[in-house]
Amino acid sequence: MASSEPSGQRPSGSSGYLFRGNELSMSTIDLRSDTVTLPTADMLRAMTSAPLGDDVFGEDPTVLRLEETAADRMGKEAALFVASGTMGNLLGLLVNAHPGQEVIAEADSHVFLNEAAGAAMVGGIQVRQVPTERGVLSPAQILAALRPTDDDHQPPSAAVIIENTHNWHGGVAWSEQDLRHLSETARSNGLAVHLDGARIFNASVATGAEVRAIARYADTVSFCLSKGLCCPVGSILCGPAGKIRQARRWRKMLGGGMRQAGVLAAAGLVALETMVGRLADDHENARSLAEGLAEMPGIDCDLSRVQTNIVYFRLTNMDATGFLTACSGDGLLGGEYGPDLVRFVTHHGISPADIRQSLGICRKALRS
Ligand SMILES: Cc1ncc(COP(=O)(O)O)c(C=O)c1O
Repeated sequence: MASSEPSGQRPSGSSGYLFRGNELSMSTIDLRSDTVTLPTADMLRAMTSAPLGDDVFGEDPTVLRLEETAADRMGKEAALFVASGTMGNLLGLLVNAHPGQEVIAEADSHVFLNEAAGAAMVGGIQVRQVPTERGVLSPAQILAALRPTDDDHQPPSAAVIIENTHNWHGGVAWSEQDLRHLSETARSNGLAVHLDGARIFNASVATGAEVRAIARYADTVSFCLSKGLCCPVGSILCGPAGKIRQARRWRKMLGGGMRQAGVLAAAGLVALETMVGRLADDHENARSLAEGLAEMPGIDCDLSRVQTNIVYFRLTNMDATGFLTACSGDGLLGGEYGPDLVRFVTHHGISPADIRQSLGICRKALRS
């Protein structure tokens, strides 16, 4: 299969990743997640030549440049380079809600399902879960979830979380109209809005809206450099200067103050310059993969949800464990998300030829 960079010889018979100098190779078609992406050669070069300083002293010029660039891209006053999307979301909640308050989140949101209850543990913040059809919260749902201010029994509502694209609902991108309506309702009821934009660039590429046109509907936004944008590490939290200053203090408390972090931020700058436009290729590959899967007997795939780089599908005649075990025997990896639910994610390094090969492997696995 194609690797993310010209990598010379592909090791045969090995599994996982090999890292030899600047040669990066994958020996399997790994569709478990876009988090498996490897840094590009341009990133590795930038990382070895970036000017560095102590970022806890606010003196790493590369981190400062990345934060300025990110804030500008998102149309926000300030930004903070953080270790992960999970940390970006946690800091986003900590600066928008106080202990004893509640934030409203979609029931299958990453913040609620997959972030180790950080808001509750670290912030004393309760997450209210609101189920939706496609990950998109409506104004009516916000109004219904809003707590009365004059009832001592109930926790005050502080904020709403938007996830765009929505991972568990299939990488669905919010429309501009849905974002606007939700944000207007939240703000007019005194709620802050935090956007989990781990894949905001996928949302932007899918809808044609600039990232700042998406981010304007939120007070704070976190996005990942380490997924489809291929950085080895890192996410960014953007927002008003005062909130980012508070987030910086929380980051220190959580042990996330990194010193010569410019070595990582350098990859982030390359990602923002070079890796956004190509996400359209991942979306096209996901679409071909989903269309091929949807034609196979034994697979139920809702094509209307395949808008970006994520493909979920249900197996109607076998379980996900058996299917994925058969696939991995032929060199294709995917994620198991329920007894009959499988997820494939396309990313840099996955070519149309890999998609064709993956479909062949899936067809064979269904017969196993
Ligand atoms: C929607 C969403 N938000 C946040 C995260 C957390 O990112 P990280 O793995 O960098 O902590 C993820 C990770 O997959 C995600 O899918």
